[in-house]
Amino acid sequence: MPGLTAPSDYSQEPPRHPALLINSKEPFNAEPHRSALISSYVTPVDFFYKRNHGPIPIVDDIQRYSVSITGQIGNPKELYMKDIWKLPKYTVAATLQCAGNRRTAMSKTRKVKGVGWDIAAIGNAVWGGAKLADVLELIGIPKSSQITLSGGKHVEFVSIDKCKEENGGPYKASIPLSQATNPEADVLLAYEMNGESLNRDHGYPLRVIVPGVIGARSVKWLDSINILAEECQGFFMQRDYKMFPPSVNWDNINWSTRRPQMDFPVQSAICSLEDVNVVKPGKITIKGYAVSGGGRGIDRVDVSIDGGKTWVEASKFQRAGIPYISDDTSSDKWAWVLFEAEADIPESAEIVAKAVDTAANVQPENVEVIWNLRGILNTSWHHVHVRVGHSSM
Ligand code: MTE
Repeated sequence: MPGLTAPSDYSQEPPRHPALLINSKEPFNAEPHRSALISSYVTPVDFFYKRNHGPIPIVDDIQRYSVSITGQIGNPKELYMKDIWKLPKYTVAATLQCAGNRRTAMSKTRKVKGVGWDIAAIGNAVWGGAKLADVLELIGIPKSSQITLSGGKHVEFVSIDKCKEENGGPYKASIPLSQATNPEADVLLAYEMNGESLNRDHGYPLRVIVPGVIGARSVKWLDSINILAEECQGFFMQRDYKMFPPSVNWDNINWSTRRPQMDFPVQSAICSLEDVNVVKPGKITIKGYAVSGGGRGIDRVDVSIDGGKTWVEASKFQRAGIPYISDDTSSDKWAWVLFEAEADIPESAEIVAKAVDTAANVQPENVEVIWNLRGILNTSWHHVHVRVGHSSM
């Protein structure tokens, strides 16, 4: 691709914040300390998790950078950044969550394959860019299309990074055409994150943001868009990021029996405490995040200090001072809520959080019932053990 190149090694990686916790160096996979997530509703770029499958691409000439649009359409088209900048700009607050968030904890039950993550492979950003529905309209695909005249039903996004899993080929994924052409789905070709140009780690110069869907479909460093009759056949759609039952292991797996995972389920986690914090006697504040996929809001976050025997309801907010009402137009439907509850902690306590979304979906109690060999979508109740420390007189 003119203008954008993909290194074969890791000698030209961008600088990163030293406080990030590195889960794998090459490719670079890192998350912030969990406490960083509750410092602000919008996660600063430096502390936003970074999930890569190869070396980070480089823009050598932004003027020459273009995205080619091909496939089941009349005429293929090259879109330059100036064409994308000309389209109406939308800003969408959306939480991006890696399907592997909380994988390390799932692995404790039974070993799973994949990069280990604590609870911070998630972040909330304000993405700025053009709506994919507008871009597709430019090439003659009307809004709210299910199928193009030549039979296209899926929109594939192809990058240029060199991924081991694709035998050195690029990362790719697809979403249904109906979602891509639905302006309400808010799928973006984003060039900004939190009001600034995307940085290299997060997809400079252009990436896809598919709100409410696992992060794996939000392809970074976009190179081409293909309108296809079938969904993308890439590794990360067909042989990864699928949810299997606990009975499936590496000897009996049949990848074709499951659909690629799209929406993520309801999730929450406690970020103000970790195992095993020693706290002072008296009241403590329990804080964390809660989010659901598919644009479903958060109806409730329940917090327990006795391992789930009794519960209190936490308060929820997005922007400070504005009460959060799930499903209200004043709320960011694709974004997380932060929650807060106060409790008196006895000698030692097992603190638990679980969230309920607006469809009354609730997080499962145990990780065992959702265990899967790739360790994705660990949304089980989040537990933290704390002890009360009495300082000696
Ligand atoms: N796009 C490309 N080109 N290459 C990748 O490795 N990783 C995906 C997605 N898009 C990936 C990609 C995954 S699994 C996730 S969770 C998100 O990007 C992470 O986005 P972030 O690094 O901006 O947080």
